[in-house]
Amino acid sequence: MAEPVKVLVTGAAGQIGYALVPLIARGHLLGPDQPVILHMLDIPPCMDSLKGVEMELLDAAYPLLRGIVATSDVVEAATGVKVACMVGGFPRKAGMERKEVMGKNVSIYKEQAAALEKYADKDVKVVVIANPANTNALVLKEYAPGIPNKNITCLTRLDHNRALAQIAQRVGVPVINVKNVAIWGNHSSTQYPDVNHGVVKTAEGVEKSIREAVADDEWLNDEFIKVVQQRGAAIIKMRKFSSALSAASAVCDHVSNWIKGTAEGTWVSMGVFSDGSYGVPAGLIYSFPVTTKNGEWEIVQGLPIDDFSRAKMDATAAELVEEKALADSIIKE
Ligand code: NAI
Repeated sequence: MAEPVKVLVTGAAGQIGYALVPLIARGHLLGPDQPVILHMLDIPPCMDSLKGVEMELLDAAYPLLRGIVATSDVVEAATGVKVACMVGGFPRKAGMERKEVMGKNVSIYKEQAAALEKYADKDVKVVVIANPANTNALVLKEYAPGIPNKNITCLTRLDHNRALAQIAQRVGVPVINVKNVAIWGNHSSTQYPDVNHGVVKTAEGVEKSIREAVADDEWLNDEFIKVVQQRGAAIIKMRKFSSALSAASAVCDHVSNWIKGTAEGTWVSMGVFSDGSYGVPAGLIYSFPVTTKNGEWEIVQGLPIDDFSRAKMDATAAELVEEKALADSIIKE
C-alpha cells in the first residue's frame, strides 16, 4: 500500500471539520487505497473540542487513518501536508462591517499561508472553504507567493452539486443523470448557476439538454438560480448551523476530482485563478467550469455565452473585484 499522505484541515473542531475528517479517514478525499495522516488545526479555546474529535477518530478504527495531529500550532499543522482544506475562519457576526470581518480573515490567512509556503509539501494542493472563500484564497496567495497559482483553489463544488440536485429533482431522475451545469463567479449570493450547457439523461435513457428536459425557462431563469444562490442561507435557517454535511462532501468531490480527474465529457466547477477566459478579469479567483487530468485543472473553453449569462457573470466578477480591493486595502495598511 502507498505511503500515508498528510492532509490538513483547519477549523477542524467546527461544524464542517466534524463532518469532513471522517470522510477523509474513510478514503473519500484521496481514494480507498491511500492511507492518510490527518493534521487538524484549530484555535487554543477549541483544543478540548478538537481533542474530542481526535478521540472519536481513534474509536472509529479507520483502517486508512495512520496518524493524527491535533494542534493549535500552525507550523506543526502545516508541516509536510500535500492537501490543505482551509475551513477555519472568522464568521461575520450580526452588526459587523465587512471590512472588520475581512481584516480578521486576512490576519488568519496571512499566518497560515506563510506556514504552508514554508513547511508544506512543495506541491501542496489548497482548497479554501472559509468565507469569503474566493477572496480568502487570493489573500492566501498574497502571503504564500511560492505556492503556484494552479495549486490554490476555492470551493464552489457545493454550489455545483446543489444545482445538479435541483435539476434532478425537477426532472425526476437520479442526480447522476445530470451533468455539466456550471457555477460562475463568487461563492456568494451573486454566483451564477448556468444550465445552458448541461445535459440530462431522462428516465427513458435519452440525453437531452437541461432546458429541453426541464421545459420551463421561466423557472430556470429565475427561481432555480435564486434557490441555488440562497441555499446556504436556507439551510442555516432550518438547521441553525451551516450546511456542514454537504460542504464536507463537496470538499471530497473537489479534491478527488482534482487529483484523479473528471470523467470524459464531464466538467465540474472550481474557484480558480482567472487567466482572462470568458472576459473575467485575470487574477481573480473565480468559479469556472473545469476539467481535470493528472492533478491539473483546465478551464473549459469555447462555451457560448448569451446576454443573460454575460450580465450575471459580470455582476459576480464585479463583486469579486470589490472584495479584492477591500482585501488589498487591508493588506497594505
Ligand atoms: P464553524 O464556526 O462551526 O467552524 C469554524 C472553525 O474554525 C471553528 O472551530 C473555529 O474555532 C475555527 N477557527 C477560527 N479561526 C481559526 C484559525 N485562525 N485557525 C484555525 N481554526 C480557526 O463554521 P463551519 O460551519 O464549519 O464553517 C466554516 C467556514 O466555511 C465558514 O467560513 C463558512 O461560512 C464556510 N462555508 C463555506 C462553504 C463553501 O461552499 N465554500 C459552505 C459552507 C460553509
